[in-house]
Amino acid sequence: MRFLQIKHLVAEDLNSAFELDRLCFGGLWTLEGYGRELGSPNSDLLGLWAWETEDCESAQNLAATGASPLQIIPPILIGLGCLWAILEEAHITILAIHPRFQGQGLGQALLWALLKKAHYRPLERATLEVRESNLAAVSLYHKFGFKEAGRRKRYYEDTGEDALVMWRNGIEKPEFKQYLAVEKVQICDRLHQENWHLAIDIFDF
Ligand SMILES: CC(C)(COP(=O)(O)OP(=O)(O)OC[C@H]1O[C@@H](n2cnc3c(N)ncnc32)[C@H](O)[C@@H]1OP(=O)(O)O)[C@@H](O)C(=O)NCCC(=O)NCCS
Repeated sequence: MRFLQIKHLVAEDLNSAFELDRLCFGGLWTLEGYGRELGSPNSDLLGLWAWETEDCESAQNLAATGASPLQIIPPILIGLGCLWAILEEAHITILAIHPRFQGQGLGQALLWALLKKAHYRPLERATLEVRESNLAAVSLYHKFGFKEAGRRKRYYEDTGEDALVMWRNGIEKPEFKQYLAVEKVQICDRLHQENWHLAIDIFDF
């Protein structure tokens, strides 16, 4: 059975984060760059962990203690998400799912978690830049109510591609909390359909 957890990264996770970054972005941030996030009160750097065990009880143990003798596959970092709180804005700087695990509802789970963090900080709106050719990411952001508000010309040095600048307003409002609750149910349903088990409430971090 395979299980999921979202939690803040700690120093021991930095090498895994760096490796995942290289896999997903070809090396967007350095190891030192990830390290700086840990020390910043204005940063939330979240990791999505997956592991496999023989039975449900051992999964519960793992969530509680960080160790289980029955692990088939020990926890691996398969997702990264980061936001910077700047004034009243949440700048989403990283969102990535390991290529082998994409298309299973994990990206939306991690984005949901970042938006929850932003809501409770509390911040008023979220923003990000995305390659206009990155249709998967653009579609994901649209799904969460992000709207295109402009573009930065030739923002990406490697291809000269424009960045779309996207915004999601209203995240400080009480109704956004309701929105998060409704989305959470749908996200959890999707994860179950994809055969992911939630050993604990993965969104309760
Ligand atoms: C963008 C990314 C985080 C999405 O994660 P994911 O786990 O594959 O996405 P999910 O399975 O949660 O999909 C959620 C939604 O995203 C969109 N989406 C995901 N993959 C898509 C694809 N191949 N084509 C179109 N839309 C897609 C859809 O709206 C989807 O909702 P749906 O399943 O109801 O149609 C992932 O593709 C990734 O890590 N890409 C590389 C790094 C990157 O580009 N990050 C974004 C930088 S701005």
